[in-house]
Amino acid sequence: MYLPDVKLARMPADNPVSRIQTIAVTSGKGGVGKTNIATNLALALSRSGRTTMLLDADLSMANVDVLLGLHANANLMDVLACKCDLEEIIIEGPDGLLIIPAASGNKVLTELGALECGGIVHAFSELKQHIDTLVIDTATGVSEIVTSFCRASNHVLVIAKNEPASIRDCVAQIKLLNNRNAIAHFHVLANMVHTARDGLDLYSKILELLGDDHIAAISYAGFVPYDNSLHKAVKSHKAVIDAYPESKSALAINALARRAARWPRPGFPHGQLEFFVERILQQNNVETEVLS
Ligand SMILES: Nc1ncnc2c1ncn2[C@@H]1O[C@H](COP(=O)(O)OP(=O)(O)OP(=O)(O)O)[C@@H](O)[C@H]1O
Ligand SMILES: [Mg+2]
Repeated sequence: MYLPDVKLARMPADNPVSRIQTIAVTSGKGGVGKTNIATNLALALSRSGRTTMLLDADLSMANVDVLLGLHANANLMDVLACKCDLEEIIIEGPDGLLIIPAASGNKVLTELGALECGGIVHAFSELKQHIDTLVIDTATGVSEIVTSFCRASNHVLVIAKNEPASIRDCVAQIKLLNNRNAIAHFHVLANMVHTARDGLDLYSKILELLGDDHIAAISYAGFVPYDNSLHKAVKSHKAVIDAYPESKSALAINALARRAARWPRPGFPHGQLEFFVERILQQNNVETEVLS
């Protein structure tokens, strides 16, 4: 695919603005809006001038490309099989958003051997594009690969909606990621709520259920209201911020993007996205071997 020649000046590594912002979007329960939030958030960040990449890491059921009405001809597995380069599988979405489609219906990343993992690291190291922000749409729950993506990211954005099962699973996911995986900070986003008050109530319930003994720092990332426009946008294979830019969900997601852009970025210097991938693979206790 054609990669736009974005000429970003290389900034010194100790300049916080020169760091890649990595945001994992996850949830304890499925169907709460991860893919829609991740996609629209990435698009809003891309539109604001950041070179943004959206990684569809829901390896069991890829759908970022479907949501945006794009067609992925190849995926990470094809890169590993040396059928194509990483550059060739990147799809350019609206507003220059770069999308890495998932390897859906295929072997999952956790099952890969050391050589294949090394191949992924190598592929990222070959990527010429300088990425400013990486947004990851993870699968649901606490599988090894979900926890790996969350641990490797600077920020974990947990999506919950106001129903008992979603609240319960959100609390369970945060506890597990915190206790067993040492993730210390979570942003909680209330999705599909009716009012700002409902969003805050949902957040309070989550804090209450987490109790005093949890050591994670939790912050409220705000809310995205229930909005038929978002639903209509999905049906027409468009992101809501594109299809209905003045809708209440689009305005809320744009506000979320403005806040997320200010989140600290302790991560990786520009051009070193492969370190992020390496970290994921190491956390999966896979002995990585970088091919050269
Ligand atoms: N704010 C919202 N208002 C109205 N509908 C919404 C909103 N957010 C999500 N939805 C609807 O909820 C459904 C699930 O959304 P989405 O696919 O983004 O969830 P998910 O968490 O990625 O699901 P999965 O666990 O299957 O990956 C979609 O049909 C979408 O239209
Ligand atoms: Mg999804």
